Amino acid sequence: MIGAGAREHALVLALANDLAVTALACAPGNAGTAALAEQLAVDVTHPDAIAKLATSWSADLVVVGPELPLVAGAADAVRAAGIACFGPSAGAARIEGSKAFAKDVMTAAGVPTARSELVDNPGRLDAALNHFGPPWVVKDDRLAAGKGVVVTEDLEVARVHALTLLDDGHPVLLESYLDGPEISLFCLVDANATVVPLLPAQDFKRVGDGDAGPNTGGMGAYAPLRWAPESLTAVGRQIVAPVVAELARRGVPFTGLLYAGLALTTAGPQVIEFNCRFGDPETQVVLALLRTPLAGLLMATAIGALAQQPPLQWDSGAAVVVVLAAEGYPGTPRIGDVITGAEGPGVLHAGTRRRDDGVVVSAGGRVLSVIGTGADLAAAREHAYQRVQQVRLPGGHYRSDIGLPATRRENGRFVAR
Ligand code: AMP
Ligand code: GLY
Repeated sequence: MIGAGAREHALVLALANDLAVTALACAPGNAGTAALAEQLAVDVTHPDAIAKLATSWSADLVVVGPELPLVAGAADAVRAAGIACFGPSAGAARIEGSKAFAKDVMTAAGVPTARSELVDNPGRLDAALNHFGPPWVVKDDRLAAGKGVVVTEDLEVARVHALTLLDDGHPVLLESYLDGPEISLFCLVDANATVVPLLPAQDFKRVGDGDAGPNTGGMGAYAPLRWAPESLTAVGRQIVAPVVAELARRGVPFTGLLYAGLALTTAGPQVIEFNCRFGDPETQVVLALLRTPLAGLLMATAIGALAQQPPLQWDSGAAVVVVLAAEGYPGTPRIGDVITGAEGPGVLHAGTRRRDDGVVVSAGGRVLSVIGTGADLAAAREHAYQRVQQVRLPGGHYRSDIGLPATRRENGRFVAR
């Protein structure tokens, strides 16, 4: 396993629980993965270093968690070394690495998405802003860990964000605003273009309760989505399959996990973004509910054998993840704070590090993912919030409303937000 977040801790945990797995290593890992997998050092931005490490460790399968190594070509290097890899080539990872490339693929594939305009010249900005909004959606065209997007009713805020990027020489993407609840649909995709959707989940991206404050990498998530139409998975497949076909047509077939961020608008589902890897924190709840052993599934994806897999088995209950973030996040987080009460089940590590004296301290913005499961969403929420209250992190903060809107019913039906 390559990576160091709570997503990787969740993947390592699921792999460790799979009897087919005889040995497991995580690089670079964190204080949580170290308890389940051999911890190896690696610079994840160097594809050749990852391939060399996998070779020397005699790995049968390499699973790449984050987008950075994938966009840099980690999967290409691992496959070139003759080792199976769960993760797309650098060419296919551009679906996440370049928003302009993603738009181009979606247009060619006939997939519904927001209207967009790429601006690379400050002189053209005001005219372009006039074509959109309010609300305005202004995106950094590069990878930005979910933090490069500003959605605002305030034209001046939109202008300032765009100009800051343009002044640094980075193109910005303006988009029409997609109105409607957002969902994350993860699909396993193999080189034979077999698409296997996982359980849809919902992510809470803003830092504060009630969706206040700036965007983050994700502050919490839950699954399943009781309010969503039964047909959502089928509709998602109809959106993902043409994109998978278009990538193959361009000579960059996708292998791994294709994450569709969808807005369920009154005009039907529209794509907000594609990511080339498991989402964080949604993976923590999706894997908490997955009953099918994970290693076989990831290996089948890596070797193009997904079509031969039996249907996935899911727990009938619900899962909630609450992210405990460091003081200052999503700005510059304070690190080095001592964490207590995190031992035992229900806590996945992200930005953590074990000091030489054995004490676990914070080492990043999103510090822990706290998981609760239960027969329904309300029970899962209760368990997650009981558990997070047992953890101590000076300056730490979390949202208190993860999954809350979806516990409510209006006219007898569950609601999204
Ligand atoms: P992205 O980095 O493209 O995933 O955007 C991050 C977040 O910004 C999304 O999860 C949405 O909440 C919001 N967002 C991005 N694009 C749009 C859009 N066209 N309309 C509405 N909200 C958007
Ligand atoms: N949860 C959002 C992401 O992983 O990009």
